[in-house]
Amino acid sequence: PTMEKWTGRSSLERRLQEYLGISAVKIVAGDCDRDPVTKNLLGLKTAEAFVSTIENGQIIAVTGGSTIASIPNYIEKANDLQELLFIAARGGVGEDIGLQANVIAASFAEACGGKYRTFYYPESLSEETHKAFQNEPSVRKMIQLYEQVDCVIHGIGEAQTMANLRESSTEEKEMLQKTEAKGEAFGYYFDRTGKAVHRIRTVGIQIDQLERVPLIYAVAGGISKAAAILAYMSTAPKQTVLITDEAAAQEMLKQI
Ligand code: BG6
Repeated sequence: PTMEKWTGRSSLERRLQEYLGISAVKIVAGDCDRDPVTKNLLGLKTAEAFVSTIENGQIIAVTGGSTIASIPNYIEKANDLQELLFIAARGGVGEDIGLQANVIAASFAEACGGKYRTFYYPESLSEETHKAFQNEPSVRKMIQLYEQVDCVIHGIGEAQTMANLRESSTEEKEMLQKTEAKGEAFGYYFDRTGKAVHRIRTVGIQIDQLERVPLIYAVAGGISKAAAILAYMSTAPKQTVLITDEAAAQEMLKQI
């Protein structure tokens, strides 16, 4: 028996997994909101799970954020990882450079000794320009690549926090409040029933494409994210593995 058995985390994992109806839940000790080390534990746990399930030659889409950024630190170069291809799950550049999906895709590739393809897409385009951009060959290529993704590794954010970080307009923030958006993942905002109530204007993996991805890791922790994780998980694809921390997990069970 592992330590986890004795701390009760494994029964917590089972209860949440059954309630959420997803493929697995993995819980690390601590609370990301209070202790930065917990985020590293999430990174380590995800890296272990990822390396043991991924197959050489596969395509992995990753999102941005500090949680996902912590994962590559725990991946070691291996011969059977060198043909992996990492791409950004969406092309946005509206965030802190170190936490952008493109940069994180590159650091995954570097950690594994694999490859990456960058994709920069401005987030502040007008509707018209955005439409026109979708016909650009490089954008079309990326959209096609999203059809071939074998694995997605993504973070989950609290809706208002993400809107503030992205310096969204007052209208957009009011709209998120009105529609009671709780969680955010890969540019979509979700209400507590898991309905996508808003999407930022970007090119990225679509919800229906995500449904067809065989392996998905959702990684997020901290009490402040409990409602956001629950919201997103209400309609998350069944093949999702949630990797979270004890504080978020306990709070989720309270809110259920
Ligand atoms: C952002 C992603 O970069 O990170 C979001 O675009 C995600 O989809 C967010 O919700 C999570 O950030 P963090 O730093 O809390 O892991």
